[in-house]
Amino acid sequence: MATSYAFLLFCNLTIFAFLASIITGSLAVTADSELVEQICNQTTPYYKFCKDALNSDPRTSGADGAKLAYVAFSLANRNASSTRDQITSLQSNSTGPVHLHLEQCRLDYATAIVKTTLALTDLDWETYGRLSYFASMTRDQAKDCELAFKGTKSPLTDNNNNLYGLSVICVVLAKWLNV
Ligand SMILES: *[C@@H]1O[C@H](CO)[C@@H](O)[C@H](O)[C@H]1NC(C)=O
Ligand SMILES: *[C@@H]1O[C@H](CO)[C@@H](O)[C@H](O)[C@H]1NC(C)=O
Ligand SMILES: *[C@@H]1O[C@H](CO)[C@@H](O)[C@H](O)[C@H]1NC(C)=O
Repeated sequence: MATSYAFLLFCNLTIFAFLASIITGSLAVTADSELVEQICNQTTPYYKFCKDALNSDPRTSGADGAKLAYVAFSLANRNASSTRDQITSLQSNSTGPVHLHLEQCRLDYATAIVKTTLALTDLDWETYGRLSYFASMTRDQAKDCELAFKGTKSPLTDNNNNLYGLSVICVVLAKWLNV
């Protein structure tokens, strides 16, 4: 009798532990995707862009604010680097004003790469005070490159829009980390 009682108690505890782990697990998942929702909600008109961008990275799943910021600044950094390479090859095949506009953009993207790299270093050190500055500086570079081609067709409009959108996500996350 005593053994079977102990056995039943054991079973109950096992089931309880099992159910508890399911419940806390699902709560954690809900809370995390809610954070993405909450962050992207503040990026209008980039809401869908924000969700697509963050969810394109496997590190987003289960990420807290600092990890999400890491994802966002990495995406911006990678985007800026690949655009810089694109600019270099466009420049090799251009002359006159277009070449000059591209030179402006090359400097803008070099600055964006520096700022996002510094932001990632700060995130490594868990210091968040300069993130808003780095994020808005990066956003300004995208705008500056777009303005460099004012009145003429820019070959970099899509790139600028992508970097601008990614920077907006960084701005919101930087603010979130500094409240
Ligand atoms: C998103 O924004 C809307 C409107 O501002 C608000 O009603 C909703 O609660 C927000 N959702 C989250 C997850 O913050
Ligand atoms: C830049 O970011 C956008 C938005 O996440 C993405 O669609 C695009 O493929 C990225 N480009 C590169 C070269 O990484
Ligand atoms: C250079 O530009 C011309 C005209 O736009 C184009 O046909 C050619 O493929 C380009 N070459 C390179 C290496 O991009």
